Amino acid sequence: MGVPALAEQFVSVNSSEELQQALHYVTEQGLPYMILGGGSNTLFKQDYSGLVIHNQLTGINVLEQTNDHVLVQVAAGENWHQWVTYCLARQWHGLENLALIPGLMGAAPMQNIGAYGVELKDVLHAVEYFDSIDHRFHQLTNAECEFDYRDSIFKKQLAGRAVITSVRFKLPTKFSPVLGYPELNKTLKNKPDPTAAEVFNAVCQVRNAKLPSPSAIPNSGSFFKNPVVSRGQLTELRAHYPEIVSFVHGDKIKLAAAWMIEQAGWKQREYDGVCIHQHQALVIINPGHRPGDAVLALAKNIQADIMRKFNVELQLEPQVY
Ligand code: EPU
Repeated sequence: MGVPALAEQFVSVNSSEELQQALHYVTEQGLPYMILGGGSNTLFKQDYSGLVIHNQLTGINVLEQTNDHVLVQVAAGENWHQWVTYCLARQWHGLENLALIPGLMGAAPMQNIGAYGVELKDVLHAVEYFDSIDHRFHQLTNAECEFDYRDSIFKKQLAGRAVITSVRFKLPTKFSPVLGYPELNKTLKNKPDPTAAEVFNAVCQVRNAKLPSPSAIPNSGSFFKNPVVSRGQLTELRAHYPEIVSFVHGDKIKLAAAWMIEQAGWKQREYDGVCIHQHQALVIINPGHRPGDAVLALAKNIQADIMRKFNVELQLEPQVY
């Protein structure tokens, strides 16, 4: 998010031994700690009083390979997009729609990253983590991770204690495109049977047209989750806002927060140097590198306004420290 913030203490860990040493150190010293990956989904409200542990564990290991699938373990410090391109080059499939998501592997299971009709939970086999309370490694199956829309056990029961060290993927070697997302479908309308590379390129094209790269303009991708409401609530909203954009989400309804934010007029406003991106109202941009509290002040104003106008609660997507 490009905010100026300092850590009281900082360490980069390159192996699981170094990670364990860092966690023993914080236990001994009674220090707060946080794990930093690529930082693209992290917002510091102020300087961090404690130890920031930068997870740089690397390594990609094939555990099993058959004619129809591969089982691969990827360390938490590997770059997400590079991993997607690594798979594309080897014809390991399922990740094409998740191209260009910023950040490192360890953050992916936290919020069950997702885009263009695919979520991490569709391809993830298991997660390995180190528990900073019992000081042991554990492994969770996909089901045990309790994945949901931008949610997992790592944001709930295991928040603040599990340090994700690697992710296992089970990927098919036969490509089956996922083209349900309308804009992707439109981009590929002249390709009835697209290859994996064509889907990957189309996702990059759609994403680049709408979402600013965090290295060019500081941002955290979607700053808000799309709210999930009941069918009854949608009926009430439609009475006032017939154009409201919604999607079926299991037996509930997911509302397009971007639509509500844009309708409420936030694309035109700037707040203490922080504003909404012109092409995607879910994205807060911080071109002037304003502090975290300025970013949060804009977010809080938007949340209050959406509550007032639509009676809908917007939840923040980034992790705030
Ligand atoms: N819309 C507007 N104004 C805007 C942008 C969108 O009114 O400025 C409306 C449009 O009607 C559009 C609808 O909102 O049809 C949905 O927009 P879009 O398809 O761009 O997706 P999104 O719901 O805004 C979600 C994810 C993105 C992901 C895209 C594509 C969340 C919080 N965000 O955005 O994820 O890339 O779908 O799958 O679920 C991220 O998590 O950081 C992220 C970028």
